Amino acid sequence: IKDINVLAVESSCDETAAAVVHNGREVLSNVISSQIDLHKLYGGVVPEIASRKHIEKINQVIEEALKEAHVTLDDIDVIGVTYGPGLVGALLVGVAEAKAIAYARNLPLVGVHHIEGHISANYIEHPELEPPFFCLVVSGGHTHLVRVKDYGVYEILGRTRDDAAGEAYDKVARAIGLGYPGGPKIDRLAKEGNPEAVRFPKAHMEDAPYDFSFSGLKSAVLNYINGCKMKGETYDPADIAASFQKAVVDVLVEKAMCAAEEFGIYKFAIAGGVASNSALRVGMEAACKERGIQFYYPSPVLCTDNAAMIGAAAYYEYLAGTRHGWDLNAVPNLKL
Ligand code: KG4
Ligand code: ZN
Repeated sequence: IKDINVLAVESSCDETAAAVVHNGREVLSNVISSQIDLHKLYGGVVPEIASRKHIEKINQVIEEALKEAHVTLDDIDVIGVTYGPGLVGALLVGVAEAKAIAYARNLPLVGVHHIEGHISANYIEHPELEPPFFCLVVSGGHTHLVRVKDYGVYEILGRTRDDAAGEAYDKVARAIGLGYPGGPKIDRLAKEGNPEAVRFPKAHMEDAPYDFSFSGLKSAVLNYINGCKMKGETYDPADIAASFQKAVVDVLVEKAMCAAEEFGIYKFAIAGGVASNSALRVGMEAACKERGIQFYYPSPVLCTDNAAMIGAAAYYEYLAGTRHGWDLNAVPNLKL
């Protein structure tokens, strides 16, 4: 097959991102304009502000991505874009932009599922990784245990019933006064705490062993903190962070290993913002090693939202024949 350069665009949440990816796995550029400082003031992402910021930044981000890759639009073969799931107004900016470029340059347009992008981040730094494998996708919006049967062919074995793992991190972080986004802050603070200090509950569903639930854990942490405050007792935020993190990581690793054993899959990847969590990496690494499972994870910059992962996913979708028309729309609740 001929060499393919994908120009990829991602705007599903609070990062405006563009990247140029060569043959699906070689990142020529990966430009991310984060809005975190803006949303921090409100303790979370404000959808309308996100959309407005995307429209302001997107042309500049794409221009930078081309420049950094030392290419022009003449060298681009495919336009890839996230079209869901995500915030509708935010997604629309990327989709409209991608359609405009594809139309003007007469290029094929490939819409990508955001989760497929997160999973595909693993292809970038692991040239030897090919399906089939398992992937635990843990981000601010998603917690999915996915069986990757082939490029673009997925089976979801389990998902969260309520909060996503990253969402639980962000809410607990807010409760102990760490600010947004809380995941990386809890990760850091937990290193100074005792994970055995408080025994928080781990949810297990009898009827669906691969589903997750984090809202009970989140409430237990909030109740514990409020209880301490009411009794006038002090608590150590580092101990809370470490104990909460242990409860999250234990459940994630347990279910992941259960699935790997049941299906006899010896390759396991993690993806999404929470995949950059140090305790999750250490826990998964050890559990995989014990069972002879090859473990894969992306660098932190490829774990959180970026367009390089969308470029990788778009490349394999393109090879599989996926093409979208000028009627491509943003789909906020798009199914994998
Ligand atoms: O993948 P992502 O950028 O956006 C979504 O698609 O949701 O994930 C962002 C989430 C946030 O909830 C953030 O707190 C969490 O990932 N996160 C972490 C860490 N870094 C980011 N959670 C735990 N530990 C981390 N080191
Ligand atoms: Zn994401």
